[in-house]
Amino acid sequence: SAMEQEDAIRQELGSLHGIPLFKSFIEGWPQVKAFQARPDDLLISTYPKSGTTWLSEIMDMIYHDGDVEKCRRDAIYNRVPFLEMKVPKGPSGVEQLEDTPSPRLVKTHLPVQLLPTSFWEKDCKIIYMARNPKDVVISYYYFHQMAKIHPDPGTKAEFLENFMAGKVAYGSWYDHVRGWWEKKQEKMLYLFYEDMKKDPRGEVKKILHFLGKELAEGTVEKILHHTSFQEMKKNPAANYETLLPTMMDHSISPFLRKGICGDWKNHFTVAQNERFDQHYQEHMAGSDLHFQME
Ligand code: PPS
Repeated sequence: SAMEQEDAIRQELGSLHGIPLFKSFIEGWPQVKAFQARPDDLLISTYPKSGTTWLSEIMDMIYHDGDVEKCRRDAIYNRVPFLEMKVPKGPSGVEQLEDTPSPRLVKTHLPVQLLPTSFWEKDCKIIYMARNPKDVVISYYYFHQMAKIHPDPGTKAEFLENFMAGKVAYGSWYDHVRGWWEKKQEKMLYLFYEDMKKDPRGEVKKILHFLGKELAEGTVEKILHHTSFQEMKKNPAANYETLLPTMMDHSISPFLRKGICGDWKNHFTVAQNERFDQHYQEHMAGSDLHFQME
C-alpha cells in the first residue's frame, strides 16, 4: 500500500551494531546474518557511491562472456541482488538471492565486521571497490536527494559534517575502507574507482586474472564499451530508471550522475577542503591505504 511504501521514505536511520542504517534493513538483519553463501558466490563489496553498479555490470558481462543481450535480461539490482536490502514491498535481497542460480554475484555495502560469517566459511571470492571520499560524499549527497529511502541530507555543508562524523547510512567511510583493507587476502581483490577510470582495460584484466578466466581481446573490448558511463547511462537495465519514482527520482539527480574523478572540486569550498584534508589525515594515519583525489 501507499502507506507501507511511505514507511521506507525519508525516515531517520536506526543503528545496527553501532552502524547507522535504514530501519527497514535492520528489520531484515536476522535473515542477512544467517545468510548461507555458496562457495562459488562472488561478493561485490563497497561503501555506497564507490562504483558498485559499474563493477556489477562489468562482472555480469564477464560472467556472460560479453553477451550484451544476456546482460539486458533484467535490471542490475535483480541481476546482482543487494544482500541486506529490505523494504516493506517486494522480495528482500536474501529472498532474491535464494532464487538466483549459481554462480551468483552478490552486492553488499556492509562494513567488514558485519559480513555474514558464511562468506568467510565458504571462502568466497570478494572484490572490494573503494573511491576517494571527496567524490563519494558529493555523489552520496546527490543520491540522498534523489533516493528517498535516505533521510533528508540538508545542505551540502551539513551533509559534509555528517559524512565526516560517520553519521550517514553505513557509517564511517574511513572505518569501511580501512576495515576491508585490513582483511585483504588471497581471495580478495581490492580495487579503486580512480584506477578503473584511468585504465579500465588494465583493471578488467586484473579481475580476469583474479577469476582465473580468459577472454578474447574482442570480448574485453565489448565489455569496456558496454560498461562505459555513457552506455550505462542510457541502458535501462543499468541506470536504475526502472525503479518507481517514489523510490528514486532521476529528475532531481540521475543515478548515473557524472561518473568522473574530482567532481568534488566543483562543490567544496577552500575552507571545507582544508578541513576535510585535516580530518582525512587524522583518520587515515598509520595506514598504507592511499587514495588519488582526482
Ligand atoms: S550505490 O547506490 O552505492 O550502489 O552507487 P554506486 O553504483 O556505488 O555509485 C554510483 C556512482 O558511480 C558512478 N558510475 C560510474 N562512473 C563511471 N563509469 C561508469 N560506468 C559508472 N557507473 C556508475 C555514478 O555516476 C555515481 O557517481 P557520481 O559521482 O554521482 O556520478
